[in-house]
Amino acid sequence: MYAFPTDAYTQVAAEAYSAPKMAGKIPQHFIDDMLAKVDIVDVIDQRVSLKKSGNNYSACCPFHNEKTPSFTVSQTKQFYHCFGCSANGSAISFLMEYEGMHFVDAIESLADSVGMEVPRDAQAAQVRNDSKPLYTLMESIAAYYTSQLRHSPEAIEYLKARGLSGETAKRFSIGYVPDGWDGLQKHFPTEEAAMVKTGMLIQGDGGKRPYQRFRNRIMFPIRDKRGRVIAFGGRVMDQQEPKYLNSPETPLFHKGQELYGLYEARKSGQDAGMIIVVEGYMDVVALAQHGIDNAVATLGTAANQQHSEMLFRTVTNIVFCFDGDRAGRAAAWRALTATLPCLQDGRDAHFLFLPDGEDPDSVVKVGGAAGFNDLLAQRIPIVDYLYQYLSSDIDISSIGGKAQLAEKAKPLLATIPKGIYKQLSLRRLETLIGLSLGSDSAAVKAQAQPPRRKQGDTGLTAMSRAVLLCLQNPELVQTIPPDDYDINPDMPGADVLLKLIAYCDSTPDITTARLLERFREGQSYSYLVKLASKSYYPDDRELDLDSATAEFKHCIARLRERSQQTLADKVAPAARTGLLGLKRR
Ligand code: UTP
Ligand code: MN
Repeated sequence: MYAFPTDAYTQVAAEAYSAPKMAGKIPQHFIDDMLAKVDIVDVIDQRVSLKKSGNNYSACCPFHNEKTPSFTVSQTKQFYHCFGCSANGSAISFLMEYEGMHFVDAIESLADSVGMEVPRDAQAAQVRNDSKPLYTLMESIAAYYTSQLRHSPEAIEYLKARGLSGETAKRFSIGYVPDGWDGLQKHFPTEEAAMVKTGMLIQGDGGKRPYQRFRNRIMFPIRDKRGRVIAFGGRVMDQQEPKYLNSPETPLFHKGQELYGLYEARKSGQDAGMIIVVEGYMDVVALAQHGIDNAVATLGTAANQQHSEMLFRTVTNIVFCFDGDRAGRAAAWRALTATLPCLQDGRDAHFLFLPDGEDPDSVVKVGGAAGFNDLLAQRIPIVDYLYQYLSSDIDISSIGGKAQLAEKAKPLLATIPKGIYKQLSLRRLETLIGLSLGSDSAAVKAQAQPPRRKQGDTGLTAMSRAVLLCLQNPELVQTIPPDDYDINPDMPGADVLLKLIAYCDSTPDITTARLLERFREGQSYSYLVKLASKSYYPDDRELDLDSATAEFKHCIARLRERSQQTLADKVAPAARTGLLGLKRR
């Protein structure tokens, strides 16, 4: 028998039973208790009407477009899963995905619904109490700027000259900050420290009074997805530099995570199913002025994967709109590589390049919405642009060129999630080079999904199978005597399995969702979420509880054998402590 090395034993046991771990500063035990009270079926049914089907509930998936329901919710597991787009997770994940909530907000909303109060450690409470008034203050500053706009004929004239109506200015809460160093301080005398914190004031050197960052500029409030003002962009009205000044990174504002106009686009409620990503504040505003109210802009950064993911939670189509110049093409390429990994089936992305020297603002100014829509109709599918860009300096009529294109394209195609989209993209490459890639296309797949080491008829290793079974049927753990779990904790994946076992053993009636939430902060979370919704057999055959139990015992036995093989010569037998010191009640 393999004996647990003491250090590994203490480590795993300690983690399993330690004082509640903090997840995002909310105690893990609270999340667990809360999930025990919440019913995921209620949570989802309030937003997406569910139908009972067999043991589960089903609906058309809210995360991708479909006509026949492939979205299922399991009440026993407290877990949802879509067979179409692979969206899955707990009630917390659902709110994060569906409502676009942050983790902490999702917890709060759920806690609220079951009458629980989220406890926090002093520090977290501090952060929270700190930020709440900051949001309120930023909203008041935005209101102050819009009121100042009314008193500035010059600013009003500037906006009119740019073709904006009062209505559009109102829609985006566009304002004006007068010149001077201390307008804000005079208006909000008790808020100096808070205004330094949110980047509205700059702290002078050597104890000097702080002064206004923005002076004599048109002010564009930047809102987060929930509509809270978190930052500002300010434009000069003449030729001064810099043309635009933006809030710095602050506790409220992380520019790589935000999109200007997203709140307004969502609020307008138009269901275009598509969002257009442009480069400038004025482009978003000018498009809206002409009735195109589904545009957003990055905040002076390239579009990243987080941006694409965020947009795909709202719509199925993204159109990236860029200048046709060199800088535009470079930015487009970054957006392309960031978006490929988000292209689950049901989602699509396109690129639109405007004529040199034009931006969406100038296009609608001359040609109106129709002018822009004509250009929009000429957008290029993302994969076409991929090949176009890669072959721009390759002669693909030559054999060498074709080979070169295939070489360059393969690692990029490998980042597209498995599915029809990926296959069609590959097919396109084959057409371009006039060759079926056959085994090479297998290589593309392989790159995205490393081959598994050892495969049973499920296509999973014994370790993964044990984890899957344990996650999906936590009650299995009790069917095996604690001593039989003495597997080598150094085997890949064993740490996760042992933790799962310990959690299941210590918490009767634990559900799949509650188990998963204990791993949210950890590296193995995405792997576990996948296993939680995977069928045991590749042909989707159902596994009843008896067979699951038998399979689980079998997997554990295999893992014990393997532990002994790998350690037979290495470790001298030590006193046995029994697995994790489990005590059955
Ligand atoms: P552009 O200069 O293309 O902006 O910069 P624009 O919207 O067309 O500006 P107008 O039409 O002259 O008013 C695009 C974006 O780059 C960022 C801003 O986010 C701007 O919207 N930018 C630009 C800055 O942050 N600072 C600058 O000085 C210029
Ligand atoms: Mn412009």
